[in-house]
Amino acid sequence: MLRRGVMAALLSLVLVAVSGILITDTHHLSNSTLYRLTQMLLQNYHKGVRPVQNWTQVTTVYLDLSVHAVLDVDAQNQKLKTSVWYQEIWNDEFLAWNSSMFDGIGEISLPLSAIWAPDIIINEFMDIEKSPDLPYVYVNSSGTIKNNKPIQVVSACSLKTYAFPFDTQNCSLTFNSILHTVADLDLAFLRSTEDIKKDKKTFMNDGEWELLSVPSTYQVMHSDAGDFAQIQFHVVIRRRPLAYVVNLLIPSIFLMVVDLGSFFLPPTCRTRITFKTSILVGYTVFKVNMSNEVPRSAVSTPLIGVFLTICMVFLVVSLSKSILLVKFLHTERSSRQDHPLFCFQRTSRARPVDGAHLTRTSLTVADSPTDVPPCHEHQPQVGFLEEALAQLQSISSCIQALDQAAQQEASWLTILYRFDKLLFQGYLLVLGVYTITLCSLWAVWSSL
Ligand SMILES: *[C@@H]1O[C@H](CO)[C@@H](O)[C@H](O)[C@H]1NC(C)=O
Ligand SMILES: *[C@@H]1O[C@H](CO)[C@@H](O)[C@H](O)[C@H]1NC(C)=O
Ligand SMILES: *[C@@H]1O[C@H](CO)[C@@H](O)[C@H](O)[C@H]1NC(C)=O
Ligand SMILES: *[C@@H]1O[C@H](CO)[C@@H](O)[C@H](O)[C@H]1NC(C)=O
Ligand SMILES: *[C@@H]1O[C@H](CO)[C@@H](O)[C@H](O)[C@H]1NC(C)=O
Repeated sequence: MLRRGVMAALLSLVLVAVSGILITDTHHLSNSTLYRLTQMLLQNYHKGVRPVQNWTQVTTVYLDLSVHAVLDVDAQNQKLKTSVWYQEIWNDEFLAWNSSMFDGIGEISLPLSAIWAPDIIINEFMDIEKSPDLPYVYVNSSGTIKNNKPIQVVSACSLKTYAFPFDTQNCSLTFNSILHTVADLDLAFLRSTEDIKKDKKTFMNDGEWELLSVPSTYQVMHSDAGDFAQIQFHVVIRRRPLAYVVNLLIPSIFLMVVDLGSFFLPPTCRTRITFKTSILVGYTVFKVNMSNEVPRSAVSTPLIGVFLTICMVFLVVSLSKSILLVKFLHTERSSRQDHPLFCFQRTSRARPVDGAHLTRTSLTVADSPTDVPPCHEHQPQVGFLEEALAQLQSISSCIQALDQAAQQEASWLTILYRFDKLLFQGYLLVLGVYTITLCSLWAVWSSL
């Protein structure tokens, strides 16, 4: 019973406290100058009306932009993702007050959703990114509204990758009103264009991309729907190539030099094929590795990719030439081995020619009943001489055949050697052009 009474007392106490807080809160609120001012400003405000007393008055929106970071450069989808600080300032004639009537308040924040705001968009805008949605704007006593917000822009941009990794990109961010013509809504720069161009203070300068400049232009676009004011900021960024030079360019040059070195192996050497095959595997691994790092775009291919492919073509041509050569030499040699065998087999079937067999020959000659009769003393010698002559003749014809084959082979070899030399020169040329291209790209890159 006692406990219940205590509980009831506590509950009523809490209720009284809460209602007291609520009462004092509303009391505080109505007493607050800020509340009074906000009430005064927004009571008769219509956010659907452009805030000018005289409709012929143009509302000028002052824009400012500073690039904060380059988040992603997507060459495949031709997209650039940047983080920018964006500022809009315009004047609202209905949101002015006399500060001395409100405790000297010079500036207050108002909800953006409650007031008129210009409908300025980025033309290249492609994707909604998570930008913090800031609900307030600052208004000062003369009715000047400041709307500052960081935005992540994913914008369409024509990215050129042929000079990779020494590439510079120029992407535009075009701001204009989607509906209002220049007679209603005009745009202007908040700072001088020279200041905007050189502003790199807020840029996070440790990434892959370096901000070169942000030139900007003001234009009035004439179209069927009317004349529209627009402001373009060109974000000019440059890639830092060091990582790519170390990871891609120098290894690729090494691979090409090793490939070049393989031309110094004699073309008939079979290890050359093994060597070149290993280089081919090296190229393939390199290309697979590279495809992750090199930006791919449907419009342009990086020059270094083109050069690697040309080198690969040279390698494959030279490899197939080596294989052909070895195959050719192999058949030639085996036919040469066949030829003497054939020669000797034929003669040995008739008569053995070796010195060891010579005595046997004379024996056979002597033993043979069908051959020369044994009564003649000089007859075997004459027969032997004839034999020897026949053998010599067959040997000489054999050697002549071999000689002819050798001559043919030699002419083939000279042709292949010439081809090899041609390939070598072509390869040297490609390597030279590659080096010169890289150097000139680098020179152009560093001159910016
Ligand atoms: C409310 O304002 C009146 C005068 O404007 C003042 O006397 C009173 O103390 C204020 N109340 C509070 C809670 O500030
Ligand atoms: C609006 O401004 C124009 C010129 O600025 C002036 O001729 C016109 O009288 C003004 N109208 C009103 C209602 O103040
Ligand atoms: C602002 O208010 C003060 C006092 O109420 C007055 O003296 C002054 O003239 C007013 N200023 C304007 C611009 O109305
Ligand atoms: C309000 O801000 C604008 C722009 O910053 C400035 O020109 C103007 O003097 C300010 N008004 C007051 C009363 O501070
Ligand atoms: C960037 O491109 C715009 C046009 O798209 C051009 O006017 C501007 O000069 C270019 N800037 C640089 C630095 O190339």
